[in-house]
Amino acid sequence: MKPMKIIPMPGMLQKIVPFKPKYPVLNKINKRIEVLIVAKPRDPKANQKNVAIVWDENNILAILSTAYSHVIITEIKTENDLKQLAIRKPDLVFSGVKYFDFNQRTIWLNDYLEIHGIAYMASGRQALQNEHDKSRAKEIMQQAKVNTADFFTTEPGEHPNEESLPIAFPLFIKPVTGGDSRGVDSNSVVYDFKSFEAKVLDIKIKQKSTSLVETYLSGKEYSVGILEDSTSGTLKAMPVEIVVEKNSNGHCILDYDIKKNDSEEVIPVTNSKIFQQLCTLAKKSFRALGGKSLGRIDIKMNHLEVPYFIEANLMPGLRKGYFYRACSYNLNIGYEEMILLIAKNGLASSKEYSVAKIKVPKLIENLSLSYLN
Ligand SMILES: Nc1ncnc2c1ncn2[C@@H]1O[C@H](COP(=O)(O)OP(=O)(O)OP(=O)(O)O)[C@@H](O)[C@H]1O
Ligand SMILES: [Mg+2]
Repeated sequence: MKPMKIIPMPGMLQKIVPFKPKYPVLNKINKRIEVLIVAKPRDPKANQKNVAIVWDENNILAILSTAYSHVIITEIKTENDLKQLAIRKPDLVFSGVKYFDFNQRTIWLNDYLEIHGIAYMASGRQALQNEHDKSRAKEIMQQAKVNTADFFTTEPGEHPNEESLPIAFPLFIKPVTGGDSRGVDSNSVVYDFKSFEAKVLDIKIKQKSTSLVETYLSGKEYSVGILEDSTSGTLKAMPVEIVVEKNSNGHCILDYDIKKNDSEEVIPVTNSKIFQQLCTLAKKSFRALGGKSLGRIDIKMNHLEVPYFIEANLMPGLRKGYFYRACSYNLNIGYEEMILLIAKNGLASSKEYSVAKIKVPKLIENLSLSYLN
């Protein structure tokens, strides 16, 4: 991604509180936070299906330690490690792990923490499963009356000829699950049956996946960060535009190579009508999926500039990618403040946590979404 330009956003209030997290906070909040991780794959680039949010845990530890008194990193290797965590009952588990597979039994982390009355960040199993299968997410959008391109799913041979296709060309084809644009390339846009068959087969062979086939959306692309204020329940939507150069076929697609090489540009959305349309669509999608705390909704326009839901990420990456850009442009905050805001929100989601009871140091107290609502 190219360097950021700071451009004022519509709806951005002037009341931005200066925050200097690098300054030591003497009066740290007396809370126990565990940054939970699992063992990393041998190949650092390999995709760990059960880990949705990737970050540098030592950096997260350092940031959280500026504000909270007891922060540790915990690596979970066995079910017993998880049980020990439940016994320790920290005030917050800060983690991007979705689930664990222990002896062929799947335990969803956030559901487990919920049962044990431990606060966590992001969504639970139900919402994560709604989001994971993109065709399911789109069905939920249709029920919620949120615009999403017409679609169907298919396997090689399932639709044997052009007449059997439920929607018209041009079509866009991608794996029905997955992230980082795996399986998305210049052949994803198809204008004829031969190319349709070839791409569906390619996805089956290389990604071992069913294909999701949609009406091709040729317009601009956006991603909208969502932050939920746990105390008030209100959502803050933070749109950014993602600008991609045309590929050799003349299409602007955020494909695998573009993401890998960081060649896209992320810019603020300055048109207030589009800004509002994106916020409304993203909040509605987040709610319909049952999202909690934070997320990112991907949106693309058609040729008539009508925005359509593409997919949701309810555990968005928390490095310096799209979610961070969305926070930074829309809230005018830095990376450390974003991490502290997510932690503060996570803590506030706990039923036992009462803001009134805790003497919050000034800097952290000011770091709130409420002034932006
Ligand atoms: N119907 C469509 N029409 C045109 N382009 C599309 C369509 N669906 C997806 N795309 C393009 O393909 C890209 C990847 O699609 P999508 O966001 O579903 O995949 P992803 O791999 O889950 O990405 P992420 O890394 O955001 O999780 C989009 O960013 C967009 O550029
Ligand atoms: Mg996407």
